[in-house]
Amino acid sequence: MSAIRYPLPESIDPQRLPQHIAVIMDGNGRWAKKNKLKVALGHRAGTENLREIIRNCSDIGVKALTLYAFSTENWNRSKTEVDALMQLILDFFHSEIDELDEKNVRILILGDKDGLPEPQRQALAQAEHRTADNTGLSLNIAVNYGGRAELVRAAQLLAQEVRDGRRTVESIDEQALADKLYTCGLPEVDLLIRTSGEMRLSNFLLYQCSYAEFVFPPELWPDFHVPQLHACIKEFQRRSRRYGARDE
Ligand code: FPP
Repeated sequence: MSAIRYPLPESIDPQRLPQHIAVIMDGNGRWAKKNKLKVALGHRAGTENLREIIRNCSDIGVKALTLYAFSTENWNRSKTEVDALMQLILDFFHSEIDELDEKNVRILILGDKDGLPEPQRQALAQAEHRTADNTGLSLNIAVNYGGRAELVRAAQLLAQEVRDGRRTVESIDEQALADKLYTCGLPEVDLLIRTSGEMRLSNFLLYQCSYAEFVFPPELWPDFHVPQLHACIKEFQRRSRRYGARDE
């Protein structure tokens, strides 16, 4: 995979970049169908643009990029498709880890790693461990992830702390809850992109997207490249973010 480098277009204000971009990489199946290919090849095509998107986010100074690679609901797909996705995830980590580490990218896995097959669990845990002290882009990969399950886990962790006498019920506020999410310490999502024109959140980052701007580009994920990413950032910069207040 070779990646093309794109400078930031002049129409994008580098001072007002989204700090955290989250992406629902939708449309691999439709891309495969359109090209008369098996669905696994659609997913494979959907990994071929990853390097350029990640590299560009790192180059332009985005702080966090979160990719929805495999949801808790994706286990309901056929074994062939699940196996293909698991293999692609493994291949991605094996082929990209050296360059990501070199580029000071920190990898964080969102989701239940223990529910993954052993080779994937190990590769993901190793990638997190190896890059834990990196200070550049935080590349967050959601694998075996569900937003509701993440909130339930956070509630359980807080309840355990109360039970053990390590905190009071009154000390539980929005920050305390945010600190128990997989995204602890990361900025909230500013820009949520879902490709393929679908307009749903599908159990992704339910808490973290509270004030995100949603952009739904029409391209199927394998056709989404850096110019399309820049178009989404431009659209983000056109939005007026009021957080419930009024523009003065
Ligand atoms: C949605 O398309 C996409 C997925 C369920 C998987 C996304 C995974 C990858 C791009 C590969 C692995 C990722 C990483 C980070 C290594 P769909 O199959 O639901 O598309 P459809 O709606 O057109 O059928």
